[in-house]
Amino acid sequence: MEARLFTRAQEISREFRFTYKAARFEEVWLLDSLFEIADHKWISDVLRKVKGGKEASVYLCKSGEGVEAPYVAAKIYRPRMLRNLKNDQQYRTGRADLDESGNVIVDDGTLHAMQKRTAFGEEVRHQSWIAYEFKTLENLHNAGADVPKPYAMEKNAILMGYVGDLSSAASVLNSVSLDSSEAQRLYERVIHNIDLMLTHKIIHGDLSAYNILYWNGDITLIDFPQVVFPESNPVSWNIFSRDLTRVCQYFSSQGVRCDARKLALDLWTSHGYKTAKEADPKYLDPENSEDMKFWKKQK
Ligand SMILES: Nc1ncnc2c1ncn2[C@@H]1O[C@H](COP(=O)(O)OP(=O)(O)O)[C@@H](O)[C@H]1O
Ligand SMILES: [Mg+2]
Repeated sequence: MEARLFTRAQEISREFRFTYKAARFEEVWLLDSLFEIADHKWISDVLRKVKGGKEASVYLCKSGEGVEAPYVAAKIYRPRMLRNLKNDQQYRTGRADLDESGNVIVDDGTLHAMQKRTAFGEEVRHQSWIAYEFKTLENLHNAGADVPKPYAMEKNAILMGYVGDLSSAASVLNSVSLDSSEAQRLYERVIHNIDLMLTHKIIHGDLSAYNILYWNGDITLIDFPQVVFPESNPVSWNIFSRDLTRVCQYFSSQGVRCDARKLALDLWTSHGYKTAKEADPKYLDPENSEDMKFWKKQK
């Protein structure tokens, strides 16, 4: 951790104190990540850590004046160098990169830095990943999908509706046992959401019972940075059918009869997509062997 950050955190902590007691390293990161959000009065306190995930940690916060709900969840991404280096290429294919305001990056210098994977380029890539999560939450929330309401994105943090209450956060669906009528109802609700996402040309890309929250008999879909677009990603069908396979794995274990392959095909084709299709070469990366295999097969 840089000395500059420590100094900045010390300055910030004089103005912004919170209930949650973090270890020193985490505190610096938290303060640095949440300062602007607190400064804009989105939150007034950080109460506790809900979960330390693989790429991000989620904190329960008390809302500030700008939010109608009493609590909000802050998802803070790990600094890029501490994140598990996930191969993000298959998700990035066919989607433009976004800047910290959620706008498509068109600046040649920035695009070049990303391609060359300079430190600055990697920073921009990381930011784009976060911006996609926020933008997708906005799009899906406006579309009426069961996702947390997004409030703000600042730097490496996203502020969204918190699912749970003061004493406990929602469980991930995977850890919940459902009776058969509830299982059927929630299964249909998840499929409704997947269908709605396809209507808005969005595939979750990492959907499973681990990224669905369960609270008071309702479900909420979360964790969207890797979203994929059905029309421009050459492997979108594979990613889509994998999402359905994982969803069906959970619901089958809860006694719901579901045929993942048939369901995926029906949904996909009902939106006019084909399972094998031509990809626009501008979306293929010549340095990526999967993309090149795909291109040769297509020709
Ligand atoms: N809006 C929320 N309300 C309550 N808990 C949440 C919320 N968002 C995330 N969580 C919790 O934080 C965990 C990690 O969040 P997630 O977005 O899935 O990130 P990761 O990339 O780390 O899997 C989730 O499994 C869930 O337990
Ligand atoms: Mg997750």
